[in-house]
Amino acid sequence: MVCRRQDIPSGRGWPVQVGQVRLAVFDTDGGLRAVDNRCLHIGNPIDDGPVSGDVLTCPWHGWQYDLRTGQHLTAFGRRPGLRTYPVRADGDEVLVEVPGPPGDR
Ligand code: FES
Repeated sequence: MVCRRQDIPSGRGWPVQVGQVRLAVFDTDGGLRAVDNRCLHIGNPIDDGPVSGDVLTCPWHGWQYDLRTGQHLTAFGRRPGLRTYPVRADGDEVLVEVPGPPGDR
């Protein structure tokens, strides 16, 4: 469990940490989304970026990502982007699956 659903601001994300992994969780019209909280541009956090549909705009310099797949949306098409994580709600609890380090079983 990383937070409660009501912790996530409308139209924005919420920063959480699981072990060493920093995530941003979003509650979009399409459902909950969880991605790495690190923009691929210069690594700034993206959790405070505005969300429209499933498109997140980085609050720093405007790079855009599809929160369903993490893909980076560019003028030249979709590019590999942010890592995504399985996320679901159990009541008002937001649960994210973050794999442990290799060999951690
Ligand atoms: S840090 Fe995200 S666009 Fe620059």
